Amino acid sequence: MAPFSINESFGAQDQKVIAPLYAKANLDFVSGKGSYLFDREGNKYLDFISGIATNALGHCHPVLVEAFKNQLEKLIHLSNLFPNYPQIEFAEKLLTVTGFDKAFFCNSGTEANEGAIKFARKYFNRKGEKDRTQIVTFYNSFHGRTFGALSATGQPALREGFGDMPAGFTHVEWNDTEALKAKVNEKTCAIMLEPLAAEGGILTPSAEMIKTIAELREKFGCLVITDEIQTGVGRLGTFCGAAFYGIPADIATFAKAIGAGLPLGAVLMKQLIADELRAGDHGTTFGGNPVACTGGLALVNIVSEPAFLENVKARSAELKAGIAELIRKFGFLGEARGEGLLLGFTSERPVSEILAKAREEKLLVHRAGTNTVRFLPPLNVSSAEIGEALKKMNKALSAL
Ligand SMILES: Cc1ncc(COP(=O)(O)O)c(C=O)c1O
Repeated sequence: MAPFSINESFGAQDQKVIAPLYAKANLDFVSGKGSYLFDREGNKYLDFISGIATNALGHCHPVLVEAFKNQLEKLIHLSNLFPNYPQIEFAEKLLTVTGFDKAFFCNSGTEANEGAIKFARKYFNRKGEKDRTQIVTFYNSFHGRTFGALSATGQPALREGFGDMPAGFTHVEWNDTEALKAKVNEKTCAIMLEPLAAEGGILTPSAEMIKTIAELREKFGCLVITDEIQTGVGRLGTFCGAAFYGIPADIATFAKAIGAGLPLGAVLMKQLIADELRAGDHGTTFGGNPVACTGGLALVNIVSEPAFLENVKARSAELKAGIAELIRKFGFLGEARGEGLLLGFTSERPVSEILAKAREEKLLVHRAGTNTVRFLPPLNVSSAEIGEALKKMNKALSAL
């Protein structure tokens, strides 16, 4: 392999050594502060992707940096062979904030969903309902890339070429309550959904669908698993996205923002499910790492404050108003999507063109589904930064 040249872009170097699994933008970021990222030349980009809804307090928030540093000097890794105090403290906080009873920590969103699926199945198995294994999920959902989570994910294209998938997953169209009623029965172990289908195009649940899920859960005694990996940790202006919509949940999965930028996932569950789990049923070496949990606790202490969540709602209203204005102005834009600070608009023009033009304006935004531009600012974004993003987007759309 040819040695790297200092003048080569990171993109060129990346292609030589990193497996080609991502379509990366050719930008060379080296540092971040708050809502901004800086490249090698010192150019400043307004980051409304936030590491895909992960940097909830922006880049290198001083409280998080301090928390990480303190824990790094005490204990970096312990394993789950011993109780881990940062994990205990963080679990207690999460359970207090969400109303769940027990926590299991892992390292990512897909792993959190694997855990949730296994716990739901084990719950019924231990209760003697051994053939209650069916999981009903939705088309256009995204639950992760490992086999269980991928089977739950309602995007057949993502499963292509990977051979047999684990059995027991059924998909229905989002908001199709008749299809949902037709699929849920005594064999249903769980209905699994994102409170708002983010990757699938920022699709919000209808009141009818929420009501139907609650009725089916009651009628058949199945569990509801909410995937809060993108909607949780305050993204919709409530700590859990399910609370925003009033979706009942027996198990909720978290990742992304929950580790304050380090890999961390969590499965929160009701006591009745924890009662049916035993040592050895599931596990992970790194899950609930002390450093990630310390950062997560520092972050959740901030994000769960009512005044902080009010700020998310206020900034959301500003961004929503600005998006509505853009839709009025540019005829090729379609409809506004989303809630909280998970917002977007659909476009008849290719989303890739809009993202590229926005990057020229030094604004980073992301796609959702096939035709939706997605804004994921940090949750502590300022009003001025929302205004700046809208101005940049206006210029980007004008330049198309
Ligand atoms: C709703 C949802 N679930 C699960 C995942 C998978 O998380 P991870 O990439 O950490 O495995 C994602 C990632 O985008 C997500 O948005």
